[in-house]
Amino acid sequence: RTLDDAGALKGKRVLLRVDVNVPMEAGRVTDATRIERVVPTIREIADAGGRVVLLAHFGRPKGKPVASESLKPVVSAIAEHLGRPVAFAEDCVGPAAAEAVAALNDGDVLLLENTRFHAGEEKNDPAFTRDLAANGDLFVNEAFSAAHRAHASTEGLAHVLPAYAGRLMQAELDALTKGLEAPARPVIALVGGAKVSSKIDLLQNLVAKVDMLVIGGGMANTFLHAQGLGVGKSLCEKDLAETAQRIVAAAKAANCRIILPVDAVVASEFKANAAHETVAVDAVPEGGMILDAGPATVAEINAAIDAAATLVWNGPLGAFELTPFDAATVAAAKHAAEQTASGKLVSVAGGGDTVAALNHAGVGETFSYVSTAGGAFLEWLEGKELPGVEALRAKA
Ligand code: 3PG
Repeated sequence: RTLDDAGALKGKRVLLRVDVNVPMEAGRVTDATRIERVVPTIREIADAGGRVVLLAHFGRPKGKPVASESLKPVVSAIAEHLGRPVAFAEDCVGPAAAEAVAALNDGDVLLLENTRFHAGEEKNDPAFTRDLAANGDLFVNEAFSAAHRAHASTEGLAHVLPAYAGRLMQAELDALTKGLEAPARPVIALVGGAKVSSKIDLLQNLVAKVDMLVIGGGMANTFLHAQGLGVGKSLCEKDLAETAQRIVAAAKAANCRIILPVDAVVASEFKANAAHETVAVDAVPEGGMILDAGPATVAEINAAIDAAATLVWNGPLGAFELTPFDAATVAAAKHAAEQTASGKLVSVAGGGDTVAALNHAGVGETFSYVSTAGGAFLEWLEGKELPGVEALRAKA
């Protein structure tokens, strides 16, 4: 159920769970993407006369108040993007919250202090959930990016109040469904990043679902090693060679084509502008470190993208934070963006590093959908149920 099913909002206290866990430096928000993406929903509820009570977490304060993890510095950022004042209460439950909520007029917006200042939040404690629920007539969950946490404000509240998905939650679920549940085929998944160990579940789930799987980044080295190739000093989880072989076998059985690097950019140290050369993957020197995919690999990936109707992307293809080892990631991202712009590809991307890499390539806006989620996007790709989403579904 979405906001469309919530009925008249005038005069109602709407507990709106948002994820404004945004990067901050010296008390200032450095990337407001997550704020920008929830502002339309706040506006919609306020314009309908609802009294918006924002619930959110920030950082990982472990169940007690920590000054550096207060949501107070986020208030002005929300107000700025919303173009309206936003009130703040120093606690998310108890008298401070109750008084601030009681002072709201129709259309007002209030942010309550970090839910994680209370141990009951992460414990999903029913008593704490009831304390939160006391300030709302209904619950709207807008925090897809926190939906992998079964916390009081992400999961518990859906069981005790009328519960609805917010617009961003709807958009995320819709895009992810188009990406993997009911995609236009063929589907290509591009998975990069450093370690196989952190993405085994993801790879195993994907080979069963997609038609082509590009394995890139540091993770590809473990697969090259598993094929008997030397990877020099590159990052490589040698003890996972058998796992890599199993994933390749599973892909074959599922008719999923695996695309591994055929050439690599090799440097002697992990440093921006380190001296480097491009070699075939069977010619990596012993002292060399693979920091990026080479041009032949990029050409193969781009041709595979041309053959696909849907792309799901998580993780960079190389050490994109170090120039010039961002080249493969940037080239593939630009190519995917071109295909998207010409209407040939539905492109869905997510994960903290991935979004940074796409923005670095200047194509974040061109992709069909860029998720605000990091951990939740990964867990969804892994095929796991997200408790925040499940609770909404159960209620519906
Ligand atoms: C995120 O930033 O991915 C979400 O806000 C969840 O944060 P968490 O990993 O601390 O639960």
